[in-house]
Amino acid sequence: MAQRARDAILVTGGAGFVGSHFARAAHDAGNRVIALDDLSAGAWPALPPAVVRVTGDIADRELVARLLAEHGVTAVAHFAGKICVGESVERPEPYFDRNVVRTLALLEVVRERGPDVFLFSSSAAVYGTPTRVPIHEDDAKAPINPYGSTKLAVELALAAYGTAYGLKWAALRYFNAAGAHPDGTLREAHDPETHLIPLAIDAALGRRPPLVVFGNDYPTRDGTCVRDYVHVCDLASAHLAALDALDHGVEVGAVNLGSGVAVTVGEVLAETARVVGTPLLREIGPRRTGDPTALVASNDRACQVLSWNPRHGEFAAMIEDAVRSRS
Ligand code: UFG
Repeated sequence: MAQRARDAILVTGGAGFVGSHFARAAHDAGNRVIALDDLSAGAWPALPPAVVRVTGDIADRELVARLLAEHGVTAVAHFAGKICVGESVERPEPYFDRNVVRTLALLEVVRERGPDVFLFSSSAAVYGTPTRVPIHEDDAKAPINPYGSTKLAVELALAAYGTAYGLKWAALRYFNAAGAHPDGTLREAHDPETHLIPLAIDAALGRRPPLVVFGNDYPTRDGTCVRDYVHVCDLASAHLAALDALDHGVEVGAVNLGSGVAVTVGEVLAETARVVGTPLLREIGPRRTGDPTALVASNDRACQVLSWNPRHGEFAAMIEDAVRSRS
């Protein structure tokens, strides 16, 4: 595809794990980046100085309208949102508020003021317990937790805005985001941390108590859950590819982003211990509510529609990058 004209991109959640990596990649590709984040989940990471950082709320219509106008924004990449599956089961209201209500407020400003290009950070959680593995985009969507429901709700809203108002949209369904920028400047950090890889690294480094494995009685090769880990830099490049595709009139819609490789929790722990170079203490706990046995992506559509293939598909390299970023 021909090179896209440079964009001014509003990146919501630009301080977060995937958002900050996209902000960095979009900047490095020559775009102007305006990162908006309320810093509810942490501080600004080390982004290039040219990235404009704005601390604020995506539902602050005045602020968003001003940013769109002042910076001549041509595309919005929306990463802001709450991300903990377990928490969403216990306390759904902030999930529906932040992930749905506030996203609709953002969408309304975008509809009124332009631009007409919108990228959305969706999730494999829209599938719930998959009917088959690998999972294809048109397989049944039946979320089993509020987090997944909120992602699906926004996807439906985007499709409706596309039909009604001509919004050009892409919903990128991440499987398990992993790794970190290889230069060590950006990393996965949530507060509180609930994700397996950062917890495993910190346990191996002796910064945390032994890791609790949530169930070892699943019907998998070692009894632990299977996930598809995809490097965060590959997620970032897929978003740039989606911008290109939308610019060329491609109806992107919903696209899976995974590496297509099945890895068990036990294998994550073994690889982490190898890379850190220490044994990783663990305990076996009960299953976590809302955890499907296996989530693995079919990347066929990403390959066809976005001409995207993961370039950092090696699982060992993801762990190495993640360990470097936390050392
Ligand atoms: N796990 C443990 N112990 C821990 C943490 C996690 O055994 O202390 C296990 C989980 O049970 C799961 C695997 O490690 O089997 C991965 O768990 P994560 O919490 O790291 O990630 P999830 O698979 O729950 O969630 C990810 C994304 C979500 C997305 C979801 C799709 O973070 O945004 O995949 O279901 F919605």
